[in-house]
Amino acid sequence: MAKIIALAGKGGVGKTTLCSAVVRILSENFPKERILAIDADPAVGLSVALGVETKETLDDIRREIISKAEQGEGKEAMELLGEARYRIFDALTETDGFAFLAIGRPEGAGCYCSVNNYLKEVIHMLSREFDYVVIDGEAGIEQINRRVMEKVSHLILVTDPSAKGIQVAGTIRSVADELVMYEKCGVIINRVEDMSVIPCLQIDGAEILSIVKRDEAHAKNDILGKSIFELPVTAPVYLGAKEALEKLGIIDGGKAE
Ligand SMILES: Nc1ncnc2c1ncn2[C@@H]1O[C@H](COP(=O)(O)OP(=O)(O)OP(=O)(O)O)[C@@H](O)[C@H]1O
Ligand SMILES: [Mg+2]
Repeated sequence: MAKIIALAGKGGVGKTTLCSAVVRILSENFPKERILAIDADPAVGLSVALGVETKETLDDIRREIISKAEQGEGKEAMELLGEARYRIFDALTETDGFAFLAIGRPEGAGCYCSVNNYLKEVIHMLSREFDYVVIDGEAGIEQINRRVMEKVSHLILVTDPSAKGIQVAGTIRSVADELVMYEKCGVIINRVEDMSVIPCLQIDGAEILSIVKRDEAHAKNDILGKSIFELPVTAPVYLGAKEALEKLGIIDGGKAE
C-alpha cells in the first residue's frame, strides 16, 4: 500500500507549487520507487508545474464509460469497471521519475461530485500499484467532506500567514480528523514575508512542518512557465517541501542533500 500524501488548503496559498516540489523531491530520493502525481483540482495547474502534458483526464474516461453503458453495449457493471482500470493506466503520463494523472474539468453543473466519487475509487485502486501517491487537492474542504481523501496517510495543510488561510487549514484539519484516516498531519506556512508574525501562527493539532519565505526564483520560473525541476535546490520552495517531508518521516534528513 502506497504512502498517500495530499496537499490541502485555501485557494491560492501554494498547494500546487509545494505539491510539485514534493513530487520532485520524492523522485530524486526514490528513483526506483513508483511515484504517482494526481492533479485533483479541476482548475488544473499541476501538469504545468511538473512540466508534463496531460493526455487524457479521469473525467474523459468516466464520460467514455458512461456513454458506453448508456449505449447498452450489453456489458455488466463489473466488466466496465475492469475496462476502466485498464483505461486509467493508459491515461497516465509517464516520465522518468513519476507518473501523472489529472482529474480534468467536468462539463456542466452537477457533474463534479460524480468525478470526485470516481477519483476516490481510483486513488484506492492506484495506491496498490504505486509506492507514493501525491495529490494536489482542490481548494477548500469539499474533497475532504466528500471522503475523496479518506485513504490519505500524510495530510499536508498549506496556508499563507493570513488569518483566513490559517482558519481554512484549521477547519480542514478538524474535519479530516473524522473523515481521513491519516497517520500524520502538518502544516506548511508559505509565502511568508515577515518572519516576526510566525510566533502568532498556529493550528491546533497540526505541527508546523516548514515555513517558506517568498521565493523570487520560483516566482520568476512561474512567469516564464518553467517547471519545478528547473528551480535551484537552494530555493525556499524546494527547501520547505524537503523539510516538510523530513518532518513527516517520508525522507531521511541526511539523504536528500
Ligand atoms: N513561496 C512562494 N513565493 C513566491 N510565490 C509563490 C510562493 N508559493 C506560491 N507562489 C505563487 O503563488 C501563486 C499561487 O500558488 P499555487 O498555484 O501554488 O497555489 P494553489 O494553492 O495551488 O492555488 P489554487 O487554489 O488556485 O490551486 C502562484 O503564482 C505561485 O507561483
Ligand atoms: Mg493549485
